Amino acid sequence: MKLEKYIRTVHDFPKKGISYKDITPLLQNADATKEVVKKLAEPLKNQHITKVVGIESRGFLFGMLLASELNAGFIPIRKLGKLPFDVESQSYDLEYGTDQIEIHRDALNVNDRLVIHDDVLATGGTAQAACKLINKLGGNIIELNFLIELNDLKGKEKIIEYPYRSLLNY
Ligand code: PRP
Ligand code: MG
Repeated sequence: MKLEKYIRTVHDFPKKGISYKDITPLLQNADATKEVVKKLAEPLKNQHITKVVGIESRGFLFGMLLASELNAGFIPIRKLGKLPFDVESQSYDLEYGTDQIEIHRDALNVNDRLVIHDDVLATGGTAQAACKLINKLGGNIIELNFLIELNDLKGKEKIIEYPYRSLLNY
């Protein structure tokens, strides 16, 4: 199945000069969605993954499905002020603007084998901040994976210490 045909490029969103990769056509299609989950899960099936970490908000969509497919738990990393319990925080630069993400301090333990998932790897700022949060808690990152990677923005250079995969490259 050609997943590319379910990704819509929207020019000048949310700002002039940005080409936004819109995954909503893919989400509308059950077979394409299942194919994404299958492809994300396949190489991880024998990796004894205990938890998938998904990054708000678009990382929640496939992060949760991937967790279920791997019989793993799910950990949400959320934007500033959204998590109710004790948190670790990390600020980062975005492709457009700056932001801060948080994780619950009791979300994981040192024995967990973690996968971090997000929909897009662009500049890598978000993924790098997620890795920093997990490292603050002593977590063990087995892999980062993404549905889409925007090659020109060189996000992979920010997560160089970790194995990573992306299903689609632009
Ligand atoms: C987008 C995307 C990734 C991040 C990638 O999220 O979903 O999380 O940007 O960019 P980076 O590699 O340059 O950090 P965004 O913060 O726009 O929010 P959303 O997921 O809530 O739409
Ligand atoms: Mg996001």
